[in-house]
This record gives sequence, C-alpha cells and structure tokens, in this order.
Amino acid sequence: MITGASSGIGATYAQRLAARGYNLLLIARNEARLQQLAAELAACHGVQADLLCVDLEQHSGIEKAAERLRSDAQISLLVNCAGVALNGGLGEADLDSTHSLLQLNLLALTMLSSAAAVRFSLAGRGAIINIGALVALSPERGNAIYSASKAYVLNLSQSLCSELSGSGVQVQVVLPGITRTELLERAGSSLAHIPPSMVMEVEDLVDAALRGFDQGELVTIPSLQDSSEWQALTQARLQLAPNLSHNQPAARYS
Ligand SMILES: NC(=O)c1ccc[n+]([C@@H]2O[C@H](COP(=O)([O-])OP(=O)(O)OC[C@H]3O[C@@H](n4cnc5c(N)ncnc54)[C@H](OP(=O)(O)O)[C@@H]3O)[C@@H](O)[C@H]2O)c1
Repeated sequence: MITGASSGIGATYAQRLAARGYNLLLIARNEARLQQLAAELAACHGVQADLLCVDLEQHSGIEKAAERLRSDAQISLLVNCAGVALNGGLGEADLDSTHSLLQLNLLALTMLSSAAAVRFSLAGRGAIINIGALVALSPERGNAIYSASKAYVLNLSQSLCSELSGSGVQVQVVLPGITRTELLERAGSSLAHIPPSMVMEVEDLVDAALRGFDQGELVTIPSLQDSSEWQALTQARLQLAPNLSHNQPAARYS
C-alpha cells in the first residue's frame, strides 16, 4: 500500500516496487493519474495495481484505508508518503490549511501506521516506510508547521520501531531534502529560487531510500554524505536519556 502514489515520491516508489515484483494498492485522490500509473505498471512489470481513491484529510478516507490494511492479508508493506507542505511561518497559518496538513501529515500517517503495526506483527512480518523530511532536524529554518509535522513523523517512527522490536516488522523513516516533485508548487512556492545543488531528482531519492531499506536502516537520510554525523547525534541523544527525569530540579534552578 502506497499513499500519495499519484505523483512525485509516491509514484516513484510505485514504479520501483513494481519492478521488484510487488502487486500494489495505490492511494491518492486523483483517480485519472492513479489509473494511468496502474496501467503503466501492469504493462511494464506485469504486476497488478489496485486503486483506492480517498481523501486522507477526511476521517472517512483514513478509515477506509486503515480498514483495507486490517482486512487485506496480502498487504505486507505500507509506504506512508502522502503529505502536503505549507508556505510561510506560524504567524501566517490559517485554520483550514493547518487542519488539512495535520490531518494528512500526522493523523492519516499515524492511523495507517497503527493498523499496519497490529496486522503485520500478528503475521510476524511486514514493513512500514514513513516519509518524513530533513526539516525535522532543522526547525530554525522556519516553516514551523510543516517542519514540526515532520519531526512528529521521525519521533513516531523511532518509537514505533522500538515498540515493534522482535516482532519481525521493519520500520524505516526516510528524511528527504528538497526533491524535484510538485510539493512546493502545490504549496504556492517554487523550486526556481533554490540552488540546483540542493535539489535531488526524485528517482535518485527513492533509489537511495530503498537501498537504506534493504540495509535495514531505521532512519535514512539520502543526502547526508557522512553517516557518522547522524550516528553522533543519535548517540548524544541516547546519552541524555538517563539524565532527563529526576525527583529534584537541577541545581541551576534552585
Ligand atoms: N519534495 C520534497 O522536497 C520533499 C522533501 C521532504 C519530504 N517530502 C515528503 O514527501 C512526501 C511526498 O511528497 P512529494 O514531494 O512526492 O509531493 P507531491 O508530488 O505533491 O505528492 C504528494 C502526494 O500526496 C497525495 N495527497 C495530497 N493530499 C492528499 C489527500 N488529502 N489525500 C490523499 N492523498 C493526498 C497527492 O495525491 P492527490 O493530489 O492525487 O491526492 C500526491 O500523490 C510528502 O510527505 C512530503 O512531505 C517531500
């Protein structure tokens, strides 16, 4: 099951997974695009691609997709890719677009991860790939709502991996940097003002992410050249853990 399969990163996952022989369940709102993709995948790779056209900003759409995960034993891999960005800072937030982003980027991803976690762990096998974003690691760069939504995806995926430890279910969270898709245009922005050296082609992004998946990585950062930088950050965070909850405030607050 791939959400956000009608364009960009999700559509590229569909192509790559079809090439690996997966039958697919493609989810998005744009039925015409999904139908065209399904036909291409069937013709090129001989796989079956079913469609589920739902709006994952709506409770009913989330529930339809979650129910499919609960009831369809053929689904062994969930790629939570559907997402939107918002252009602008927290002060420019309006209720409707903020609500839509939170429903899609947080609620849909959470409920689908939950449904998949339950069924895959009962089966003792399966995998969940959540698409986060590098902005999760750099809140200082602004774009507060989108950035915070992706920090949630990172945290949720790390917690989920820990919960599912020993269950046979693999969890991966992918943190793309800026990638050439429709995301920014849909948010009313553009890739035009971004230096080309910072923009990854979507095929390169997905191929790298799948290599990270094959290597069993929990957190995959396709752009990061030196993986020891991420390991150092993780190590520093884990070292903090035993110091974070005590019955007395620290001496500097007395
Ligand atoms: N591109 C980047 O620079 C970048 C960087 C970091 C992370 N990401 C993340 O990558 C993921 C994929 O984005 P993308 O870059 O591939 O952008 P994209 O080309 O705009 O694709 C977004 C996908 O989400 C689907 N979608 C949007 N709203 C939906 C809704 N209400 N219900 C169901 N599906 C919905 C869209 O399909 P329909 O419109 O047909 O519904 C589309 O398939 C997102 O989570 C994004 O945050 C992207």
